[in-house]
Amino acid sequence: MDITIEPRGGFKGQVKVPGDKSISHRALILSSLVEGTVEIEGLLKADDPLSTLHCLKSLGVDIAEDKGGQKVILKGVGLHNYIEPGDILDAGNSGTTARLLLGVLAGQPIFTVLTGDRSLRKRPMGRVSEPLKMMGAQIDGRAGGTLLPFSVRGTKLKPLHYVMPVASAQVKSAILLASLYTQGNTVIAEDIPSRDHTERMLLYLGARISREREGKVVIENPFRMAAESIRVPGDISSAAFFLVAAALSHGGELVIEEVGINPTRTGILNILLQMGARVEIFNQREYNLEPVADLYVKGGVPLKGVEITAEVIPSLVDEIPVLAVAALFAEGETVIRGAGELRVKETDRLQALSSELGKMGGKIKEMPDGLVIQGGAHVCGARCQSHGDHRIAMALAVAALYARGETVIEGVDAVPVSFPGFFEMLDQLSC
Ligand code: S3P
Repeated sequence: MDITIEPRGGFKGQVKVPGDKSISHRALILSSLVEGTVEIEGLLKADDPLSTLHCLKSLGVDIAEDKGGQKVILKGVGLHNYIEPGDILDAGNSGTTARLLLGVLAGQPIFTVLTGDRSLRKRPMGRVSEPLKMMGAQIDGRAGGTLLPFSVRGTKLKPLHYVMPVASAQVKSAILLASLYTQGNTVIAEDIPSRDHTERMLLYLGARISREREGKVVIENPFRMAAESIRVPGDISSAAFFLVAAALSHGGELVIEEVGINPTRTGILNILLQMGARVEIFNQREYNLEPVADLYVKGGVPLKGVEITAEVIPSLVDEIPVLAVAALFAEGETVIRGAGELRVKETDRLQALSSELGKMGGKIKEMPDGLVIQGGAHVCGARCQSHGDHRIAMALAVAALYARGETVIEGVDAVPVSFPGFFEMLDQLSC
């Protein structure tokens, strides 16, 4: 499916963005392991978390909506009571579904087969199967157990001390989930901290879990998991598209309410501030140990190029596509380094950004682990492609608002993976 976007100058309004995708996956998976009913408010009803929801239903978990459709009511089955599904589990496009579920399936007394769409079947899974196998997991798959589909024969697991070779919250979370099936301490060392939603939710559910100095996460199992409700804040990764659109607008003003501002996710705010954007954080509060706030952006302040280096990449890993767009319209050069992980996302995002923004007149040099973007180029409308990637499609849409002439984006059917209703909201806010 294609969409045509005409340039606009302004961006104004007050909105809420849909629920956080990472927290939604964790809310579903962890609630399914609680003994008792959990009410989840603000769950993201997008393709990715729905893949998790459908897998859980196939595993015998009862999940329904309340009458108003505001809350999801999930009847947790406890740690060991998934039912062996009669068919293959399908994670669709969702790396988080596949990787996190593997951690749980490894310890359940059932046999499962897990697959995903064409993109997911190309993404690296050895990074999860290897540490899980060290815990005793019986996992097999294509390419020596590194590519989906995977078969998993659930078994008894043992604790693990693991030094993460890549900064990946999905890998860390898979290990933490598998550790629920062990007795003793599991320790995970990370060089650069990745998002810690799993740790926060486990703590909220009653786990003995801590982050020590030197970037070590320690969890002591077993513990009794309990919760009655979880509230999911708005997704800062979805808000990011509108934050940049507002910052690039001429005198625009935007408020986004109820956005998760977990410090492992706020790299986008720090970089926008460094670029000179006017961004304010107010009304700070907390939902189930996750910090939440309202965000304000005032447009019309010229942005300047910045350097984005390896230590901050995990805190903005999903925001690089839209930050590349901000850089295109900024003065001076932006250099992004240490972002090699972008090559193994839903598509090779470094290649997709340089080719698609290049079609719009952007001067972008691709490096093995990053991009060099020359700001101030004459950005023109063009016919571009999403590469089947939701965040590439949305980033191109933001660029299209401020390009000269009309832009056609092909493959926008990928957008509901994380943000159903994105184009309607973009249209409502831009003027
Ligand atoms: C996610 C972690 C990140 C991120 C992805 C969601 C998560 O991936 O890119 O969109 O929910 O844990 P990695 O942990 O593999 O970097």
